[in-house]
Amino acid sequence: MKKKLIAGNWKMNGSLAANETLVKAVVAGLPASLTCDVAVCVPAPYLAQVQTLCAGTGIDLGSQDVSAQASGAFTGEMSATMLKEFGVRYALVGHSERRQYHGETDEVVANKAKAALANGITPVVCIGETLAEREAGQTEVVVKRQLAAVIHTNGHCISEIVVAYEPVWAIGTGKTASPEQAQAVHAVLRAQLKAATDKADRIKILYGGSMNAANAKELLAQPDIDGGLIGGAALKAPDFLTIIRAAA
Ligand code: PGA
Repeated sequence: MKKKLIAGNWKMNGSLAANETLVKAVVAGLPASLTCDVAVCVPAPYLAQVQTLCAGTGIDLGSQDVSAQASGAFTGEMSATMLKEFGVRYALVGHSERRQYHGETDEVVANKAKAALANGITPVVCIGETLAEREAGQTEVVVKRQLAAVIHTNGHCISEIVVAYEPVWAIGTGKTASPEQAQAVHAVLRAQLKAATDKADRIKILYGGSMNAANAKELLAQPDIDGGLIGGAALKAPDFLTIIRAAA
């Protein structure tokens, strides 16, 4: 059976002091034999700090973005080769907050995934519908379009990505998709991946959007839910640890 992945997305939260307290508490509470993969996707200024804190702990480091460009006049951006120097294993791409506030299109997201893959970083490709899209019955169309762009640009490398299904209406709202709602979308995504690669079964499809200590077990029990991308609950060590245990 493939290992589940529990990835924390700290978003724009943290400080040197708070990060140290959080990571040390998570490390102290990790199950002795960890049977799932664990990662934290941290703000860029803290990559070096968290790299050191996580060294030798079994917790992998992730960034919250990566540039599609290799280098040059792209003020504010960070390249995959730079991230690699800090031991970054995962890069979130296309988080709904990036799509919404930074105008990231499906094409930009696909190119970011490509830059990550070319440098040995696993892109965690975030997709998901808004409330208006769900209410208009467009969920499947939207998530398939978002994933299709990444498949189109990345060809056979697609088997190396992680997908995160994050319904926008569930992010930070406390409204989680029900396990059945989430599984239904994950099954659609799995079928789409199967049509693109014969290695689709090994691609992890995470659920994200108000996953927490209380609902994680039921969500993670769904056949096509291979882990979670956790925002708010990843900032509280006891909650993050409960989710890790639910996946282990
Ligand atoms: P949330 O965020 O768990 O706070 O809803 C998830 C995410 O945005 O990745």
